[in-house]
Amino acid sequence: MQARIAVLPGDGIGPEVTREAVACLEMVADLGGHAFRFQELPIGGAALDACGMPLPAVTLETCLASDAALLGAVGDPRHDGRPSHLKPEKGLLALRAGLGVYANLRPAFLHPALVRSSPLREEVVRGTDLVIVRELAGGLYFGEPRGLTPEVGTNTLAYSRPEVERIARVAFELARGRRRKVTSVDKANVLESSQLWRTVVGEVARDYPDVALDHLYVDACAMAIVTRPTSFDVVVTDNLFGDILSDEASVLTGSMGMLPSASLGGTVGLFEPVHGSAPDIAGRGVANPLGAILSAAMLLRHSLGLEAEARTLEEAVSLVLARGYGTPDLRCEKNTLGTRGMGEMVRNHLSRALLGIPA
Ligand code: NAD
Ligand code: IPM
Ligand code: MN
Repeated sequence: MQARIAVLPGDGIGPEVTREAVACLEMVADLGGHAFRFQELPIGGAALDACGMPLPAVTLETCLASDAALLGAVGDPRHDGRPSHLKPEKGLLALRAGLGVYANLRPAFLHPALVRSSPLREEVVRGTDLVIVRELAGGLYFGEPRGLTPEVGTNTLAYSRPEVERIARVAFELARGRRRKVTSVDKANVLESSQLWRTVVGEVARDYPDVALDHLYVDACAMAIVTRPTSFDVVVTDNLFGDILSDEASVLTGSMGMLPSASLGGTVGLFEPVHGSAPDIAGRGVANPLGAILSAAMLLRHSLGLEAEARTLEEAVSLVLARGYGTPDLRCEKNTLGTRGMGEMVRNHLSRALLGIPA
């Protein structure tokens, strides 16, 4: 097949991990007889430096004209004190809005080889396999009015019935292909937006009698995710709660560097690791590229319909981990690799699998 893929490396470790993910996609194309055309575009701090805007028009337009977009990370401490519209993060938020993506899938799967990478006890995390379905287009991130004066900072949390309904459907549909359990997370004991959220999720649930639904307050969920992670299957929640809970869930998987994501529901799918630009380790070649590589697998699956290739890439990652290899964040006892070394190791297994050579 032919596909146009927009590549937005961004800031900090973004370019380092994106390079490895793109090389995996190139291998899938070369060995699978596909023609992928990659186009690299600026976003975030890199775009602010290049042209004074966090999301140049050419970046959004090219993404909209592509089959999928792959992003690294945005965020640069040099731009931290700037007004909101001139922050690198604004580039990402404007891109999500411009693409119309509202459903952000963030799987947190613990590879069996990494049970000792998490600071949590092995018997607690073993078997973790959950997906956070984060509402991505509304809530506090986009609510109006918003603003900042020297005395008052304002943000608005509002959800409408259609916004809740469409994200709830994504969660129930996803659960049907998994363990048929949805946990809806809100703060309905305090917030009216959450009261509507809970009512609408309950109504949508009637169309899915084969899927079990429970509700948790976000504070209780924050505790349950680290005390009983294996009791979760699909977690559906709002924009801000989903942001926070997904970083927490990354701890179950061994590292922030492990989590991929897919943002769907709009014109073009956007795929990015959950982590940020990690300024503390940027430029050292030690960042874990697996979240980015697994995001590339989600791109193959969700935007290009290449399910077999997506699985092959995911299996290559699993094989590398099963052989005891890891980046420094995974705290493996031996076989520590850098970003490039890890990417090459994954591609080593990927090429064998694509060529039909037994592992
Ligand atoms: P972060 O995710 O960048 O880093 C948090 C911690 O996790 C750091 O110690 C970092 O070294 C580690 N880490 C993250 N990714 C890693 C990887 N692939 N391999 C190894 N270790 C990894 O979060 P932060 O420090 O709060 O934010 C830094 C910047 O990134 C900020 O500007 C923030 O706004 C931005 N950010 C962007 C995104 C995004 O682009 N999607 C997400 C989160 C944060
Ligand atoms: C994420 C990030 C972003 C968010 C920021 C950088 C805008 O934290 O993708 O999780 O809050 O959504
Ligand atoms: Mn986040």
